[in-house]
Amino acid sequence: MEEVRLVSSSMKAEDIDYEINNVRPMSFSEYIGQDKVKNNLEIFIQAARNRGESLDHVLLYGPPGLGKTTLANIIANELNVNIRTTSGPAIERPGDLAAILTGLEAKDVLFIDEIHRLNRTVEEVLYPAMEDFCIDIVIGKGPSARTLRLDLPKFTLIGATTRAGMLSAPLRDRFGVISRLEYYQEEDLTKIIKRAAAILNVEITPEGAQEIARRSRGTPRIANRLLRRIRDYAEIKADRVITEEVAKAGLTQLEVDPLGLDKTDRKMLLCIIQKFAGGPVGLDTIAAAISESADTVEDVYEPYLMQLGFLNRTPRGRMVTGAAYRYFGFPIPKHMENIDQCTIFQEEGLER
Ligand SMILES: Nc1ncnc2c1ncn2[C@@H]1O[C@H](COP(=O)(O)OP(=O)(O)O)[C@@H](O)[C@H]1O
Ligand SMILES: [Mg+2]
Repeated sequence: MEEVRLVSSSMKAEDIDYEINNVRPMSFSEYIGQDKVKNNLEIFIQAARNRGESLDHVLLYGPPGLGKTTLANIIANELNVNIRTTSGPAIERPGDLAAILTGLEAKDVLFIDEIHRLNRTVEEVLYPAMEDFCIDIVIGKGPSARTLRLDLPKFTLIGATTRAGMLSAPLRDRFGVISRLEYYQEEDLTKIIKRAAAILNVEITPEGAQEIARRSRGTPRIANRLLRRIRDYAEIKADRVITEEVAKAGLTQLEVDPLGLDKTDRKMLLCIIQKFAGGPVGLDTIAAAISESADTVEDVYEPYLMQLGFLNRTPRGRMVTGAAYRYFGFPIPKHMENIDQCTIFQEEGLER
């Protein structure tokens, strides 16, 4: 069985019930942080509603667990329309997409998660659908086949992706609104944790919430997951209340370090430092070293390590920084000395 990775930001079975039934925010007022994205969307939604029109197509991108799916649902709620949810890999043939599109009502939201994984032929059906609200379907076979143009209701496509760079230009260009979600600041994550704790009826002190926030890699999904684990810990070991001490002890026991790094992150960084003299080293080599797929390394592990200033992507491969050496207490190699990564910690408000 696959080892469960506590600080993975991808969705796990245990998250689903919890997220959907309890904690997932349903309106902008409950959606904490991401102010720029939220403010823009609120204006566009209000304007669309005032004009009685459908909202422009929206592309949401950013690392897993930052709130893209949540936001798509909130947008539909605030527009007061239906949302139909699917994903890139789930739409196998053009006919599948045609069936979905013709089933929409005017102003409905169609949410396509992992939209970078749509296949080419399906994507081509999407172009006229997004732009002119029509699709061409082929009726019959061979010489007697003819195309029929079908008008579609004016709908809103919301696409979500962890890899905006993997979208084709024609697809990207058809989105009127492109919003990038950022990792959350500790302050916002603390609010998210307090809110979730209140919903779950867990007693937590402000310092306890802050300690969990600090180790959640800027990611609400991880914050919620750590909260649940620490709740268990507090129930068994600490009289139910999550204080700073309880959070610290519980997180240490879970091997989540003060920066939110877990065993696998540390293994990856140590591997580059010890086996490859700090890099550059190719993505596939790193993936093999930690027994993960290259996609997972790129989507899930690297973004946060880069955000921390521990890792750089260069044309020749991945390189760790002097800050990563310092973090493990290794002497910094000569060629890295003049890059002072301390500034990154200060800017991000992160402790080392
Ligand atoms: N801004 C937010 N405020 C409060 N909770 C959030 C926020 N964004 C995400 N969450 C929580 O994190 C979980 C993961 O978010 P989700 O939308 O599934 O992420 P993504 O689709 O980007 O992977 C949600 O179910 C919700 O509980
Ligand atoms: Mg999602």
